[in-house]
Amino acid sequence: MPSAPTESALVVRPNGPLKGSVPISGAKNSVLKLMAAALLAPGTHTVHNVPDITDVAVMSQLLDHMGVVVRREGSTLTLIVGEELIAEAPYELVAKMRASIAVLGPLLARCGTASVAMPGGDDFGPRPIDMHLRGLELLGAEFTSSRGIIEGRCDGLLGANIVLEFPSVGATENLLMAAVRAKGETTIDNAAREPEIVDLAAFLSQMGAQVTGAGSSTISVEGTERLSPAEFTVMPDRIEAATFLAATGVAGGEVTLTGARPDHLDLLCQKFGDMGIKTSPDPDGLWVFMNERLHSVDVSTLPYPGIATDFKPLIVAMLTVGDDVGIVTENLFTGRFRYIDELIRMGADIRTEGHHAVVRGVDRLSGAPVRAHDIRAGAALVVAALGAEGETTIVGAEHLDRGYERFVDKLVALGADIERVSV
Ligand code: UD1
Repeated sequence: MPSAPTESALVVRPNGPLKGSVPISGAKNSVLKLMAAALLAPGTHTVHNVPDITDVAVMSQLLDHMGVVVRREGSTLTLIVGEELIAEAPYELVAKMRASIAVLGPLLARCGTASVAMPGGDDFGPRPIDMHLRGLELLGAEFTSSRGIIEGRCDGLLGANIVLEFPSVGATENLLMAAVRAKGETTIDNAAREPEIVDLAAFLSQMGAQVTGAGSSTISVEGTERLSPAEFTVMPDRIEAATFLAATGVAGGEVTLTGARPDHLDLLCQKFGDMGIKTSPDPDGLWVFMNERLHSVDVSTLPYPGIATDFKPLIVAMLTVGDDVGIVTENLFTGRFRYIDELIRMGADIRTEGHHAVVRGVDRLSGAPVRAHDIRAGAALVVAALGAEGETTIVGAEHLDRGYERFVDKLVALGADIERVSV
């Protein structure tokens, strides 16, 4: 696994169209929740197609702190979950990764108590967990909080009807993981429909849970007293796939995303089609072709099956060299616009107003020293740099390690001129 992050930079020089095949790794946003779900059943779980990224290393450390033995062999992770757990997620680890909050539901369900530090995470505005807590309260948990730590306890969980105020991915996952061990039936209405939720439900079913409706906005669960360890293969990362789509959109070329699931990328491929990028499902995954200037389009982020908020920085980067004006509207997170100042340093013409960004395409960006403040912003700056004139140096490359496996190697294999340097 990658060692502790230190500051480093990516140096990118334009090098013409991309060509070849790139393997899409297992999905970060799925595997982290599967690892948390393993807490629900003692025994040895086996998870295949696990990306070698720092967020997986942080989740491994967190589980290790709880007494779980985590081993990696190639892309397979073995998780040995004992009968006794330390039901505690300390600040040092939770602060590194917001997804750590996913252990709250499983710990309550397994141990009847959980002490979890409030999450930190990416740099895009406040990200409360009120929906997680309210739903768990409906299942019978009680919470107190002091000094940044949430203490939860319950005397067994009881099934309930829960209606979410918003289809939150994290809240749906936490509630689903708690409900599988609650007594009786639970329904989660206005549930998130993301493919990662379907993956989690499939893993839980493999463990013996009874879950129906995952992928729709109503999920039903019939609680089970004892679950068994499972063996599972993580779905491909649709955000990584979108990143290579965007890279091909800017650099041009012909690329096959091997292992990608075209059905997870339907609307994005439609939108990219409007921008001039050709895509087609391929026996190996998804074929991508681009040989013209990008067309400008308007885009709004929405919960799945809408355009994901994680795709937005990539789309803004693409629109900076579009042939007209595109308006991008963020409907999920208040921040997530900081990378725009960096794109402007590269010559982009972008105006932000509230949660809108108005992007006027220019002929070409010019390389500049820039900084990545989070994982998707880092990816967007690389995408922009692939088409820019001259050299771009992107400091904060370690953010990319959180979610992209061998990102530089994969781009180099497609013909990009990119290298990693220490700063
Ligand atoms: C997950 C993904 C993230 C993605 C996001 C939306 C992981 C590790 N991360 O994040 O990459 O961008 O889904 O697709 O899987 N909210 C509340 N109260 C809550 C929970 C959420 O107000 O209790 C709000 C958030 O502030 C945000 C919106 O709901 O405005 C959506 O958040 P949510 O779907 O929960 O995102 P995450 O699960 O944190």
